[in-house]
Amino acid sequence: MRVIIVKDYDEMSKEAARIIAKQIRSKPDSVIGFATGGTPVGTYKELVRMHKEEGLDFSKLTTFNLDEYYGLGPDHPQSYHYYMFENLFNHVNVDPKKVHIPDGLAKNVKEFCKKYEEEIKKAGGIDLQILGIGRDGHIAFNEPGSSLASRTRLVALAPETIKDNARFFEKEEDVPRYAISMGCGTIMEAKKILLLANGEGKADAVAAFIEGPITSQITASILQLHPDVTVILDEAAASKLKRKEYYKHVDKLYRKLEEEEESSN
Ligand code: F6R
Repeated sequence: MRVIIVKDYDEMSKEAARIIAKQIRSKPDSVIGFATGGTPVGTYKELVRMHKEEGLDFSKLTTFNLDEYYGLGPDHPQSYHYYMFENLFNHVNVDPKKVHIPDGLAKNVKEFCKKYEEEIKKAGGIDLQILGIGRDGHIAFNEPGSSLASRTRLVALAPETIKDNARFFEKEEDVPRYAISMGCGTIMEAKKILLLANGEGKADAVAAFIEGPITSQITASILQLHPDVTVILDEAAASKLKRKEYYKHVDKLYRKLEEEEESSN
């Protein structure tokens, strides 16, 4: 796991966008897994800038989103569908036919989830999956106690997540109690994973998933078993890591290697 620690949210967003853009440029028909929430907003803003100013081309991408609130349609302003178009897809040249976001109004949810998994496979699997992390250590909506081998399915949200996400709704009662979410097993099949976290509120979850044991109580900890994970943290989110200085040290060395590689190409 590569842990990159940067000064603040702005730097985290720029570093994340740089990595995503590198993936898109090296494989224009990449399959990208997107996340929603507050964390990646700045990253998406930077990707929009790169599209407008540097011609970053989204036209050949296929996309899959991690999750969607169950019960919310695509036009609901708090739906993840709405969020993705508002924050990214409406501002870049992505092909809407290649965008996949779980259907919060699916009638036959089991059938829908099975198909979603099949579509990911048909697209060749996810090349790069972007993730945030919940304060309870969740990735997508895999709340504590979720199977670490879980697949896309209907999940019930933890009280902590409902409280955290209430900031996007008028009142807490409006937050949906269920979501359709990729499982930990689905996420682990992505070829590369990029997890972002900022702010002090994430510091415990970050320390637990990077340095603690692999446990279904912190579902992000399953990422320790993935061969290609990059984590970008701001100083506040990294503040409870015991080996913070070590991660900074090795990151510098890796960057040096990358620079040498790039200049020799
Ligand atoms: C969103 C998602 C969630 C969020 C997590 C953090 O698609 O799957 O796991 O990444 O809840 O949310 P924020 O970024 O709002 O702190």
